[in-house]
Amino acid sequence: MSLVTWVDAYSIGNDEIDSHHKKLFDMFNLLYDSSVDTDNGTVVYTLLDELLYYADYHFKAEEQLMIDNNYVDTAMHMVRHKYFIDTVMSFRHTEGVSSNELVKETVKFLGNWLLLHVTKEDSKIAVYF
Ligand SMILES: [Fe+2]
Ligand SMILES: [Fe+2]
Repeated sequence: MSLVTWVDAYSIGNDEIDSHHKKLFDMFNLLYDSSVDTDNGTVVYTLLDELLYYADYHFKAEEQLMIDNNYVDTAMHMVRHKYFIDTVMSFRHTEGVSSNELVKETVKFLGNWLLLHVTKEDSKIAVYF
């Protein structure tokens, strides 16, 4: 099931970044599907780690693009990226995180943040291209 779907309106006018966002949405949907299956703990953590790794890669590319294009709010945007990584990492490493409830909390935060960030924050960069 696709909880988040990328649509053309989310485009920030850069093919590379758009493709990153699509991939992040796909990875999130896969993670969500796995988290619904309670017997799937190991898979969920593998998918979560893969998503975190890819998000970090994407954030670095996006931040470089902002710097290259003199985006006025780069520093604040970088703080938002760091908040995301730090929050998911702290969920990830919370003692007893294997409980199904905490996995669901992590997935909920992740999906909400991703969608809001791409549509409300990343979209602001579009005018710089
Ligand atoms: Fe961003
Ligand atoms: Fe982004």
